[in-house]
Amino acid sequence: MASVLFSDVSRTYPGNTQPSLSHVTLHIADGEFVCIVGPSGSGKTTLLRLLAGLEPCDSGNIFLGDTDVSEVPPQHRDVAFVFQSFALYPHLSVADNIGFPLLTAGVPREQARQQVEETAALLSLGKLLQRKPGQLSGGERQRVAMARAIVRKPRVFAMDEPMSSIDAHLRRALREEIAALQASLGITCLYVTHDLAEANQLGQRVAVVMNGELQQIGTPDELRDNPANAAVADFLATSA
Ligand SMILES: Nc1ncnc2c1ncn2[C@@H]1O[C@H](COP(=O)(O)OP(=O)(O)OP(=O)(O)O)[C@@H](O)[C@H]1O
Ligand SMILES: [Mg+2]
Repeated sequence: MASVLFSDVSRTYPGNTQPSLSHVTLHIADGEFVCIVGPSGSGKTTLLRLLAGLEPCDSGNIFLGDTDVSEVPPQHRDVAFVFQSFALYPHLSVADNIGFPLLTAGVPREQARQQVEETAALLSLGKLLQRKPGQLSGGERQRVAMARAIVRKPRVFAMDEPMSSIDAHLRRALREEIAALQASLGITCLYVTHDLAEANQLGQRVAVVMNGELQQIGTPDELRDNPANAAVADFLATSA
């Protein structure tokens, strides 16, 4: 596992005049769970894309542990992603979907099978390994996507609104699974959500991003009791 440091990171997309992220400095401790909240268009997804290496930083650096990964290509960053619109391979079984990253990494078959079974058990997918994605509920598919992301035991786990397509009831159950999973694996986790209650439940700390700037990071209690400015106070009040 590893800590994450965004050090004075800025990014303006080609063709835009306004930066999507501006001088963001954010430190996430090894094994910490940080939720990222903020209005639509504030830069949350961009932050994760920079961490994954899917977008370059215009200035500033990103560190995983002690290593500056700013110039490291995505496949060598050891950051696992679950995107809002995740895709499973429809013609592959659940087991093969979960094991896919191991296959491409050249992990020997028997070891891969063990890792798939362990990960599936963690996410209560053990009985579904032979099914195809089309035979699963939405929440089960979501868990397969998560299993696929963590099967390689990444150093950092980044999730961009992973539960947006799941109903409220199942979301509550999955939230608890995610919290337990993160705690048992000790994965450093960045989790973007629109749902403040979700952020407060999952996040050891919550980061508020607005207009491409990190406004505040603190525990849910700190944010509630001491919002850094009127904009944060307003956002928290209207999102609650
Ligand atoms: N590929 C792109 N090219 C140009 N501009 C982009 C691109 N992706 C995002 N942007 C712009 O950057 C800003 C931040 O976008 P981003 O997707 O990071 O927001 P977000 O906080 O994730 O929003 P949401 O909550 O709606 O998902 C927005 O103004 C958006 O229009
Ligand atoms: Mg987004």
